[in-house]
Amino acid sequence: MAKLGVNVDHVATLRQARGGSEPDPIAAAAIAELAGADGITIHLREDRRHIQDRDLKIMRQTVQTKLNLEMAATDEMIAIALAVKPECCTLVPEKRAELTTEGGLDVRIHQEALKVAIEKLQAGGIIVSLFIDPDPDQIKVANKIGADYIEIHTGSFADAPTWKEEEQELIKIENTVKLARKLDLGVNAGHGLNYTNVKKVAAIGGIEEFNIGHSIMSRAILVGLDRAVRDMSELVRYS
Ligand code: PXP
Repeated sequence: MAKLGVNVDHVATLRQARGGSEPDPIAAAAIAELAGADGITIHLREDRRHIQDRDLKIMRQTVQTKLNLEMAATDEMIAIALAVKPECCTLVPEKRAELTTEGGLDVRIHQEALKVAIEKLQAGGIIVSLFIDPDPDQIKVANKIGADYIEIHTGSFADAPTWKEEEQELIKIENTVKLARKLDLGVNAGHGLNYTNVKKVAAIGGIEEFNIGHSIMSRAILVGLDRAVRDMSELVRYS
């Protein structure tokens, strides 16, 4: 039965739009947990465009389930993670000009630096996940450099323009899950998943946790966060 990690970055985006204190992602994380979220995910970006250092510090004290910190593998972020100690760090690529994380890490090209980052974080007792495209070569390198988990980037599946291409992307995800499980890597998945397409990915089986943000927050504006989290939680668990 898969778990649901709720990404609350968009709550912080709304707060930053006015530069004030509401809505507070701390409150959103608490409501998400009360509605059944298995974990809370936040991305502390280098440019601090949504989540702030204050959010991370307070959530470390208030999150009762599991805190997953998405971050670039920079010295600054590694030092912050080691000081705050989230249960898990998901390493992601980061470009200043992007609207959201646009692709998986190129683990092959950056393997030396990633290996060092993984070792430092693991030495601090943090589980490390690498956000990567469903590509067998990337999974093999992720395993070689000691990652605990991979998070499969499901963006190409979610954005597939035709049914046929969606099907092809789904097959890639399925093959990635099989390979990762064979290598004994834990598997999470996320990006672009919504109340319709998540069922197809959840049906594959073998994915431990789905990290979902935008679709949950979009629905929350209309029906409330509690209901939005409960509905998604049901889909990832039972489809
Ligand atoms: N996983 C990772 C690594 C991400 O960077 C994001 C986007 O912040 C997500 C999951 C969630 O994506 P979405 O907001 O499209 O659900």
